[in-house]
Amino acid sequence: MKRILITGGCGFIGSTFVRLQLNAYPDQEVVNLDKLTYAGNLENLADIASDPRYRFVRGCIADDAFVDDLIAGDRFDAVINFAAESHVDRSLQDSGPFIQTNVVGTQVLLDACRKHQVPRFVQVSTDEVYGSLGPTGFFTEETPLAPNSPYSASKTASDLLVRAYSHSFGFPGLITRCSNNYGPFQFPEKLIPLFISNALQDQALPVYGQGTNVRDWIHVEDHCRGIDAALRRGRLGEVYNFGGREEKTNLEITHLLLSLLNKPASLIRYVADRPGHDLRYAIDCTKAETELGWKPKIPFSTGLRDTIDWYIKRADWVHRIKSGAYLKYYADQYGGRLA
Ligand code: NAD
Ligand code: TYD
Repeated sequence: MKRILITGGCGFIGSTFVRLQLNAYPDQEVVNLDKLTYAGNLENLADIASDPRYRFVRGCIADDAFVDDLIAGDRFDAVINFAAESHVDRSLQDSGPFIQTNVVGTQVLLDACRKHQVPRFVQVSTDEVYGSLGPTGFFTEETPLAPNSPYSASKTASDLLVRAYSHSFGFPGLITRCSNNYGPFQFPEKLIPLFISNALQDQALPVYGQGTNVRDWIHVEDHCRGIDAALRRGRLGEVYNFGGREEKTNLEITHLLLSLLNKPASLIRYVADRPGHDLRYAIDCTKAETELGWKPKIPFSTGLRDTIDWYIKRADWVHRIKSGAYLKYYADQYGGRLA
């Protein structure tokens, strides 16, 4: 695999994946196509930006003429699609960009890859396409799709397009579905980086509902090793689930963060619940373990400590993000609830 195209490589998971590729494979060439939305940040790849094997291209995956030109002009051995609108709360505020990027963008990529015969396409998806679990059970690759938020509905639509192209045209696609990621460079709108950065500034931690919802947490590097395994060893037409086997309630996470940061529980604010809030996600990743020889390696306890250290050291990164447009988002999302 000489040259790969990564979309959304300036975001949280995409940037970790770009770095992993360049570090793990000395001859790997990487082109990164990113629109630089609010979540895309060139700073996330500042350490490798001048690597001669790396090229950044600014553009939108839903721009068909642009994407067609890019894919026609280069011989890619694979395309890995990370680009997405990725936050459930934003999808509840306005689902338009989610349909445009996640659904139309995926269709545009699929058409260009098909036309120019790219030999492999990996769609990076989420366990949220399976909907919500009750107190027991796990999502497997066979679990019926039942998305509950506009975000997860748009991700499901893109997964189904990949499936349909594989089925109808023998298109060489495969899909990965992962549980909640955490780690360095995660945008501070998601639970863990939001709560770390708020607590560091002695600001309230807005817990939705009673804080009893459960997520299965995985370190972003474990997820990226899984995508790499699927890219290189996965069977075309298949779906692979990845998870950390680290189920926690939101309240457990909140108390753990507060104690690691040595901050008081009085920072917790119970706020109005997220509409349609999924109760529990938990992944059965046996298929990835047996077929791909992959396993999550980073225990949550160590991964979380390292992540906290990173957010403390990179206060500058957080500060730059938390100014500007972020302030309007924060006021729209939490203004009334934290009043
Ligand atoms: P992110 O929001 O941090 O980054 C998304 C990136 O995509 C940004 O760099 C953004 O600029 C870029 N982008 C957005 N719209 C684009 C467009 N139209 N054209 C080109 N680039 C565009 O997201 P993330 O958390 O890194 O998630 C990456 C992928 O992984 C997404 O597809 C997401 O659905 C999936 N995923 C995320 C998680 C999680 O816990 N964060 C879990 C499972 C799957
Ligand atoms: P989030 O990080 O948005 O990921 P997802 O919704 O994709 O799982 O949220 C993780 C959990 O934390 C989810 O149950 C919602 C909850 N949450 C809060 O309680 N307060 C917050 O401010 C945020 C952003 C999330």
